[in-house]
Amino acid sequence: WLQPTQAPAEAATGGVRKPFLHPFQARRYRGGFNPDTWEQELEAIPMFMKRCPAEIDAARQPDLACLQSLLFDEEQDPAELAKMYKNEGNEYFREKDYGRAVVSYSEGLKKKCEDAELNAVLHTNRGAAHFYLGNYRSALNDAIQAKKLKPTHLKAIVRGALCHMELKNFTEAIAWCEEGLRIDSKEKKLVEMRAKADKLKRAEERDARKAKVMEKKEQGQKEILLAAIKERNIKLVLEPSNDEEEIADGLAEISLDGFHSNNATGAKVHLDADGNLNWPVLFLYPEHEQTDFIEAFHENSRFIDHLAVMFAELPPWDLERKYLPGNLELYFEDEERAEMYELNPEQTLLQALQHQRYFVKAGTPTVLAFVKRSPFSKKYFTGRKVHRL
Ligand SMILES: *[C@@H]1O[C@H](CO)[C@@H](O)[C@H](O)[C@H]1NC(C)=O
Ligand SMILES: *[C@@H]1O[C@H](CO)[C@@H](O)[C@H](O)[C@H]1NC(C)=O
Repeated sequence: WLQPTQAPAEAATGGVRKPFLHPFQARRYRGGFNPDTWEQELEAIPMFMKRCPAEIDAARQPDLACLQSLLFDEEQDPAELAKMYKNEGNEYFREKDYGRAVVSYSEGLKKKCEDAELNAVLHTNRGAAHFYLGNYRSALNDAIQAKKLKPTHLKAIVRGALCHMELKNFTEAIAWCEEGLRIDSKEKKLVEMRAKADKLKRAEERDARKAKVMEKKEQGQKEILLAAIKERNIKLVLEPSNDEEEIADGLAEISLDGFHSNNATGAKVHLDADGNLNWPVLFLYPEHEQTDFIEAFHENSRFIDHLAVMFAELPPWDLERKYLPGNLELYFEDEERAEMYELNPEQTLLQALQHQRYFVKAGTPTVLAFVKRSPFSKKYFTGRKVHRL
């Protein structure tokens, strides 16, 4: 709104641009002068304003926008104009209209006047407006500029320190506080802020130390777990992912990722106090499209023991009452070769996982269960090589 694309007054004066038009004359040119309301109208003009207008809309109030462009003409003294913009910005600031205040201060800075003090104030004030808008980076940059122009400008230093607090850079906040306290050792805001920053910094350092210890501990546990898996000759594979990311060589990399893409229940393979592995295990019942999920299947437990518990009562989907523990066949799939291997339910999980063609996907061993010699399993196995017991 400060620079309307086409200045109506210029058109009205036949293209002869006058460096400065008194607002009154301009209004007469526009033909809108009303002797009954002129005082009110005058107040609507930035130069004479006592209050900030809620809105200056160039389309609705072309006179006003035009006047502003004339008043702030580049032929005026840059320092005078900058000061005017500063005052305008201060008005907006007082009204808590920080967005407009930023625009006004920016216009003032654009004048590039030689008055370093004035520019320092423009930067400081714009920084304050940015601060209230939550633009802490911009606010900080203004504080830095202001401090460059006037190193003893305490307001800028306080603002900069506040920005660092908001940006959670407590080391920098302390440095700025100390710089300010060298100018005025009793500045209350800085004394308090330094104490607060000091406390927060120490808390942050303590948390970082704790997190590091935790991370190291977790890493150590992961390595022990992987060693236990490797020691048992259990093979882990990663679910094929669409990620471009190259998987580094070595079991550790692959399986660590495998553990991360874990089951939604959060169950993971873990070592218990006795050094035994407990795996999350998924049972699939393809005939009924049903599943059972065991969160912690002890490696030395047998499949039959779990089946006995799971099918102690017939599941509601088994309308034909065929899923009796002794009436089930278990298989695992070698997906790479599209082959099925029958599992002896008397086997332990560990024995099954040690099979040379058993690959544990996504950290979750999976077994398929069928009713013995059922027509469904015959159909299911068509086209696949099945290794029976
Ligand atoms: C704090 O700011 C300094 C200087 O910009 C930077 O070097 C440091 O990394 C920052 N610290 C944090 C915690 O952001
Ligand atoms: C997680 O467990 C649910 C059963 O609780 C199963 O349906 C799902 O396929 C499992 N996901 C993985 C990635 O193993």
